[in-house]
Amino acid sequence: MVVRQQDKKEELDNIAQQINKCNQCRLYRQALRAVPGSGDPDAKIIFIGEGPGYHEDQQGLPFVGAAGKLLDRLLQMIDLARDAVWIGNVVKHRPPENREPLPEEIEACQPFLNEQIKIIDPEIIVTLGRFSLEKFLPGEKISRIHGQARYVEFAGKKRIIIPMYHPAAALRNGLIMEQIKKDFKKIPQFLSGREDTPQLEEINEPEEKQMKLF
Ligand code: URA
Repeated sequence: MVVRQQDKKEELDNIAQQINKCNQCRLYRQALRAVPGSGDPDAKIIFIGEGPGYHEDQQGLPFVGAAGKLLDRLLQMIDLARDAVWIGNVVKHRPPENREPLPEEIEACQPFLNEQIKIIDPEIIVTLGRFSLEKFLPGEKISRIHGQARYVEFAGKKRIIIPMYHPAAALRNGLIMEQIKKDFKKIPQFLSGREDTPQLEEINEPEEKQMKLF
C-alpha cells in the first residue's frame, strides 16, 4: 500500500511537471505559476473546482484563498482532513481577472485532469461549481442536481459523482451557503467502509437516467 501510494505520488509529480511547462492555451502567459492540484495521491474522494484565483496563482496550490478557507471549514465539518483528500481544478492556470475559463482552455487542460483521476482512482468525485459539473455530467444544471449523487463511468470505472455549488458562490449568497453545508453533510455516507453506507440503488435515480458513459 505504501509502495502504491509512492508510485501514485511519482506519477502525479510527473504530470505536475508537464502542467508547469504547459503552453497549450493562452492562460499560462498571464499566470504566475500553474496549480496542478494537491493532496493524498491515494484519496478515496477528490474535489474538483474551476480554476485558480489570485491566491492560488501566487502559491501554486488549489483553494487557498477565501473559497479555500470555506472549503477547509466544510471539510472539517464532516471530519475530513484536507490531507486525506485530493483537490484540483478543471483548468490549471489562472484565467486573467478571474474570468470564466473558455471552452478551448478547458479542452486543452482536460487531458491533465483525466490523467490525474486515472492515477488517483478515487471512488468519489465532488464537483465544485458548474464547470466541473459540466465535465462529469454534461448538460446538467447545478441548481437542479446539487447534492444528488450519480454513478458515472469515468476513466474506466464507475465512480460516484456528487455535484456541489462552488464555495465562492456560497460566500456571495446565504441560501447557497446553507445548501452547500447540507450537501456536504451527505458526503460521509458515500465513503465506503461505513456501516451506514447506503446501497447504491438507494442513492441513485433509475439506471438509464444516472449512467453516462465517457
Ligand atoms: N476557485 C477554484 O475553482 N479553484 C481554486 O483553486 C480556487 C478557487
